[in-house]
Amino acid sequence: MAKIKIQCDEKLMPLGDLYGLFFEDLNHAADGGLYAEMIQNRSFEFCELDHPTYHALYAWEDANGQPLSEKSTSLRVLSDDFLHVQNRNYLKVNRLEETIIRNRGYNQGLYLQSGEKYRLSFFAKPDLKEQQLILQLQNASGEVFTESVIPITEKSWRKYEVVVTMERTVTDGRLAIVFPPKTDLAIDMISVFPVNTFKNRENGCRKDLAEKLAAMKPKFMRFPGGCLVHDGSLNAEDHDSMYRWKKTLGPVETRPTRRNNWGYNQSLGLGFFEYFQLCEDLGAKPIPVLPAGWDPHHQRAVPIAELDEWLQDALDLIAFANGEADSTWGSVRAKMGHPEPFSLEYLAIGNEEVGPEFFERYTYFHEAIRQAYPEIKLINSAGPFSAGSEYDRGWESARTHQSDLVDEHYYASPEWFLANHTRYDSFDAQGPKVFLGEYAAKSNRWWSALAEASYMIGLERNADKVALACYAPLLANIDYVNWRPDLIWFNQETVYGSVNYDVQKLFMTNQGTHNVAFEMSDFPEAEIVDDTAMTGSFGFVGDHADIEVTSLTVTDEKTGQVTAYDVKTIGGSERQLLDTLQMEHYKITFHFTKTGGRVDKGFQLFFGQKDEKNYYSWSLGGWQNQDCLLSSHVNGCDSVLTQSIWQVQTNQAYLCELEVNHRQLTTTINGQVFNETKELPLVIQPLYVNTVYDEEKEVFILKIVNVREDQFHFNLDNSWDKINLTQLSAEITAENSLEHPEQVTVKKEEIPSSNQAFVVEPFSVLFLEFTPPKKNKK
Ligand code: AHR
Repeated sequence: MAKIKIQCDEKLMPLGDLYGLFFEDLNHAADGGLYAEMIQNRSFEFCELDHPTYHALYAWEDANGQPLSEKSTSLRVLSDDFLHVQNRNYLKVNRLEETIIRNRGYNQGLYLQSGEKYRLSFFAKPDLKEQQLILQLQNASGEVFTESVIPITEKSWRKYEVVVTMERTVTDGRLAIVFPPKTDLAIDMISVFPVNTFKNRENGCRKDLAEKLAAMKPKFMRFPGGCLVHDGSLNAEDHDSMYRWKKTLGPVETRPTRRNNWGYNQSLGLGFFEYFQLCEDLGAKPIPVLPAGWDPHHQRAVPIAELDEWLQDALDLIAFANGEADSTWGSVRAKMGHPEPFSLEYLAIGNEEVGPEFFERYTYFHEAIRQAYPEIKLINSAGPFSAGSEYDRGWESARTHQSDLVDEHYYASPEWFLANHTRYDSFDAQGPKVFLGEYAAKSNRWWSALAEASYMIGLERNADKVALACYAPLLANIDYVNWRPDLIWFNQETVYGSVNYDVQKLFMTNQGTHNVAFEMSDFPEAEIVDDTAMTGSFGFVGDHADIEVTSLTVTDEKTGQVTAYDVKTIGGSERQLLDTLQMEHYKITFHFTKTGGRVDKGFQLFFGQKDEKNYYSWSLGGWQNQDCLLSSHVNGCDSVLTQSIWQVQTNQAYLCELEVNHRQLTTTINGQVFNETKELPLVIQPLYVNTVYDEEKEVFILKIVNVREDQFHFNLDNSWDKINLTQLSAEITAENSLEHPEQVTVKKEEIPSSNQAFVVEPFSVLFLEFTPPKKNKK
């Protein structure tokens, strides 16, 4: 019988701030999500730069629910006599007849709940005396539930506000504004905000979503992105600028709106002050991410001579968060309602950075911040993948500068996570620590959640090397999906956690303060599920670039036999299967030239294909024609094994070679090595186990993950006062949805403290919380 013995007196490394959150406004996570504002396009700033279908009256409709458009002089979006220089557009209504406009909010409409209070507000500036307008909360078909007549009393721009209570619940709500006949006024910043927000913050967060975050008890929150941070122009005044935190401060009507690189508009209503406040409300340490003046998506770099403004932004951010209330930046914070410092401890420079341009600029940030604020823990970036040239470049930079942490990101198949379970075992505990700032096993099914759970055991075991980790992305509005999987899903009315959320929450709420030693005896050997050679079919896949291939050969490296193939062109998205290779060690060699097609695309060589969902690929000119990648594809889910930056030039000939030796892969282009990697065998442990102690609760927690389809029996060699069991289990394909939000069976019970024999169910996560007898207490 397998046995586990917790060595209660052997305290190991602290777990610190290990588990937290990563928030990015994609999938309408902020606007139309966590930010509780219900009006979409409240300040008429939406434009084509945000999305090709957007215009200044986007999300506004007439009384019949038809899209609203400007009408000669009677209904116009103007910007001459603006409310604020950063918020220039407003709606001018000048009409003899009654005019009604409505806003449809997000999803199917505003979710207005019976008994709840809503703060309706707007800014107006009349051009005639004694005007008034009427605000109504309606449903989509025009039924009126609340009505407020608002006299416009001031000559210049002024805010008007009323709080109304709903007596019905509707999910397709509308705010209607009725302008009586002979209206002549300008209106802007039209808002419907629930009074009942998370912690009752006036410009705050949607309560149900924030509570879902709070329930995880995150130790930190990384914000505001992601790609959102560094995708944009270099000029802070541009509508499509990179994320510049200073633009997000002050009264909301003075904030500009910005293009969100995920294809919509960000109001910046959830700005840096609100992020810091949310962190405080969640009990999470803030981890802001700043751009370093380099946009890798569009290859835009701030000249080094002009970097001072960006460095100053970083220094000012620390001053804003931590300065005394009477200091220059501390007073900005105090004026916004938070005289006490926000206690910023960590600061990240860059997100998924690639290219020497970033790392050259990082040096300046690092030195400036270290000199002014040596206590701030600085986070460097190791690119978008788990290995390769940019990953290595990030780590090298971090070691050179002695960054405190390095931000690693990877999205991969569940099998990748299982095969890489021991990834951090060999890391150096003395060097910079790992911040696993984004990861996910690429589906919202239980199999992925289980793989993530097993991986988290590995993160905990290596807590002396891995300091912080957070799943990504966090939130997705089901009607505006940019990226999946996501941890938490919602629409205007409802929120549900994915099965991955169940796992994250369990680990996060039971993190513990430090690891505790334990012994496992009489356990079976780990099972090697896949260590086969990369044999199988090979061929090419087009990616909308025109490619000409010549001199394609395959060499059997054992026998020396060379086979030639005739391929002429690759184009569109066609998949050309060429042959099936059975040898273990071979080289595929070819010349190619890109002759046309999409500039931002290349093509792929696939190999080792067992079927259309299981194969390997070499992408030449992947992701915006910036990468040279080796990937594995398991059950249709891809994992990048290694990446280098590289670009296919049109009308240039390349000589390419892929060498496959069992599971060892090497690629060269024109004789230069671009990728070198070994795909690790898929090994599955009988159980994944860790033990922690929680100083506050004074309990030991034994954490067990079983990714196998068999029950596992073990005995525990300790004695306890009390044992609490929490077990999550499900079918491996189980996935939560709006209709079926709880597919995981959660078992929670107190079991007899004399219990020594335990069963771990198939495909389950089992946490046993032990209250030790007095003598074992730490
Ligand atoms: O989490 C979604 C995106 O994934 C992030 O914006 C980016 O950092 C990564 O590519």
